[in-house]
Amino acid sequence: MFGLTRARKTAAVAATVAAAAAAVLSAPTAEAASSRIVGGTTTTTSTYPFMMQITDASQDQFCGGTLVSATKVVTAAHCMVGETTGSVRVVGGRTHLGGTDGTVSRVSDIWIHPDYQDVTDGNDVAVLTLSTSMPYTPVSYVDSSDTGVYASGTTARILGWGTTSSGGSSSNQLRTATVPTVSDATCSSSYGSDFLASDMVCAGHTSGGVDTCQGDSGGPLIIGGVLAGITSWGEGCAQAGYPGVYTRLTTFSDEVTEQVES
Ligand code: ARG
Repeated sequence: MFGLTRARKTAAVAATVAAAAAAVLSAPTAEAASSRIVGGTTTTTSTYPFMMQITDASQDQFCGGTLVSATKVVTAAHCMVGETTGSVRVVGGRTHLGGTDGTVSRVSDIWIHPDYQDVTDGNDVAVLTLSTSMPYTPVSYVDSSDTGVYASGTTARILGWGTTSSGGSSSNQLRTATVPTVSDATCSSSYGSDFLASDMVCAGHTSGGVDTCQGDSGGPLIIGGVLAGITSWGEGCAQAGYPGVYTRLTTFSDEVTEQVES
């Protein structure tokens, strides 16, 4: 079993929990590595209007999400464990954490993939139904037949407010970067049986340095302008030889559509 860095309801509030978790779950070498969307740049929700903050009732962000219709948001199942419709908010149009701008919606339904157990067992996908429509342009997501989008070396965009140091505080401003997709064979050699090619896809440079990190979970992996993955897990962040692992959305596209249309 690897010392996985999972998405935690870290962010600002649970920084001590995150630090403790990181200390336990990550190797010392992982701790030394810089952990953020390294090599990325700050951006805005005007540029990426589908980029949602998933927050607690106090509007403290703990995960990302992707707007796929006016009232539906795709995120990671592991972000929703222990949450209820009353405990979660979705915030659109807010580039900075702690801002008061944008649109805040309550959630009227949380669908977690029924087979979800743990990130390394796959099925890391959830769909939230919003009580309030988001006045932002959604992004479309892959069709189940679009499996070619993951071809090794394809440029993928990652986005999030994740931590800027391991176990540290989140980036105040939305950040983005691009990373190449990694072949299933290469990812298997990194992660062994924890990598399930049916449910996951990896992305990152061989030398590391660019990656998602804690707090980015649930956010999008965009390929060719379309939502193709969900930030899920990894060994530390941005480490050489350990790419980020994303939910392979083509596998779940039909189930997501069922929820989006329900
Ligand atoms: N589980 C993480 C989250 O806490 C995402 C981690 C992604 N890790 C990585 N090395 N890409 O938000």
